[in-house]
Amino acid sequence: MKKFSRVSILVCTHVHMGLKNKSCGGELSLAIVEKLKQLVIEQKLDVSVREQACFGRCDEGIVARIYPSKDYFLPVTECSLVELIELAKCNVALESK
Ligand code: FES
Repeated sequence: MKKFSRVSILVCTHVHMGLKNKSCGGELSLAIVEKLKQLVIEQKLDVSVREQACFGRCDEGIVARIYPSKDYFLPVTECSLVELIELAKCNVALESK
C-alpha cells in the first residue's frame, strides 16, 4: 500500500478524555482500521487508510469519511466494511477518469 493515495478512508479513533460524550475510539475502531488496511492490501487497491481525530459527529460513530468525495460513512461496524471498501472503489474509479 502506498503511503499517499488519491483516495483515502479516514476512520475516527478519537477518545474524548474525561468527557461523558460518546467517542468513536477504542479497540473496535482500531480493529476496523487494521481490517480495512488488510482488505486494501488483499484487493490491491490504491487507497490509504488512516486514523483521524473527531469529525464532530460522535453520537453517530464509529465515523469514517472517504476522500476526495467527502462522503461520510456511519456507523462503521465490522459488518459494513465491505460496503465501505466498495465506496472507496467508486472513488478510485472516479479519480481514474
Ligand atoms: S469521536 Fe468520532 S466523530 Fe467525534
